[in-house]
Amino acid sequence: MQNIKQYIADNKQRFLDELFELLKFPSVSADPKYKADVLSTAAYVAAKLTEAGAEHVEVCATAGYPIVFGEKIIDPALPTVLVYGHYDVQPPDPLELWETPPFEPVIRDGKIFARGACDDKGQFYMHVKAFELMIETGTLPCNIKFMIEGEEEVGSNNLGIFVGAEKERLKADVVLISDTAMISLEHPSLETGLRGLTYLEVEVTGPDRDLHSGVYGGAVANPATILAKMIASLHDDQNRITIPGFYDDVDDLSAAERDALNQAPYDEDAYKADLGVNALWGEEGYTTIERTGTRPTLEVNGIWSGYIGEGAKTVLPSKANAKISMRLVPHQQSGKIFELFKTHFEKIAPPYVKVKITPHHGGEPVVTPTDSIAFRAAEKAVEEAFGKKPIPTRGGGSIPIVSLFEQELGIKTVLMGFGLDSDNLHSPNEKFDVANFYKGIETIPLFHKYYAALMKAN
Ligand code: BES
Ligand code: MN
Ligand code: MN
Repeated sequence: MQNIKQYIADNKQRFLDELFELLKFPSVSADPKYKADVLSTAAYVAAKLTEAGAEHVEVCATAGYPIVFGEKIIDPALPTVLVYGHYDVQPPDPLELWETPPFEPVIRDGKIFARGACDDKGQFYMHVKAFELMIETGTLPCNIKFMIEGEEEVGSNNLGIFVGAEKERLKADVVLISDTAMISLEHPSLETGLRGLTYLEVEVTGPDRDLHSGVYGGAVANPATILAKMIASLHDDQNRITIPGFYDDVDDLSAAERDALNQAPYDEDAYKADLGVNALWGEEGYTTIERTGTRPTLEVNGIWSGYIGEGAKTVLPSKANAKISMRLVPHQQSGKIFELFKTHFEKIAPPYVKVKITPHHGGEPVVTPTDSIAFRAAEKAVEEAFGKKPIPTRGGGSIPIVSLFEQELGIKTVLMGFGLDSDNLHSPNEKFDVANFYKGIETIPLFHKYYAALMKAN
């Protein structure tokens, strides 16, 4: 522990400077206009891995953005940890709501503000620096492989193909990911599950062209009104989802499991104040912790129709559209949920409109084991670095590749995230506490140490 702290103290500023360089790349995977920047980011990550001491570093081409791979095999007989992360980020829009530009990182109040500060550049970079630390101090206790991808925020489709094709290269005993949140530095926690995702787009078409709303209004159904009604009907009075069969496969938690999860510290007033809402909303009969971690949900992520420019235009639009996603829990399946949605949405469409439903990406939910050697190593590492035993929680977000690691490679994952739910992921003014960044770099070598030791003792 002493040499870990010393190494971090001696290299503090450089670690931060390098992260800032990484954060300056606008590596937005969703928008083709950033293509050159996304590719330069991959090259930067590869260079940093090499500098830190990784071997066989390669920027692996895919049909989309490349995957950066690197490894350090110190002894084939020792266990291998596969570190996964992503160098792509979400679009920074709406730009006008950022206090400082998204790709010009700054520190304010001890927090790094930039797109990707927490999700996931700030977090995967902790692993690169922890690796450097272990190499430089001669304390790397096991083999390590890095796989940092550039398409997580758009569904990881090409990573799925890469994982299927590169089983030998990716062979490992456990996957370690820092791309989730903890409760706080005072209440360290480890996520033990992620929700799945079904994402789709709907288009409701009324008349075959936009109409004058005075000439035709009142005689022709307005698709914006119809879409709003259809969407509103997807939740009932208890805020349960009305799609028939939606809850059929949901794994209900036992009373003991629910109790355990609800032990986590949660301050409803602070939660509301932080979000600027006067009241919370959600499925009746469940707490906020359960609603976000253990229950499936349906959200409208975007909705548009008609005239949305300056001033007024009296138009009866031809079309109305929405992007809708559903978060899934074990044992729901994203493909099946898509079909259930489609059947239901087509059925509730009134005769005045036509409905088109297009799938986007999806991903399966996962629960990660809490009785494994790797999880125990993570618990011990967090406890030593933070002075407190971590609380197990369930994450509300999705990392679709985690279920594929299990399916394709047969490897379980440990989610050791150091972000906070309030870090504004995917939102303006994304941030990451400088303290969490350094704590992460301190915790990661301890994970490797305890993992190697516990595996050896096993
Ligand atoms: N890192 C997040 C997922 C996350 C955030 C998990 C917070 C747990 C807590 C990841 O980058 C992400 O945003 N995933 C997307 C899904 C993807 C298919 C676009 C998500 O959850 O919306
Ligand atoms: Mn992420
Ligand atoms: Mn994300």
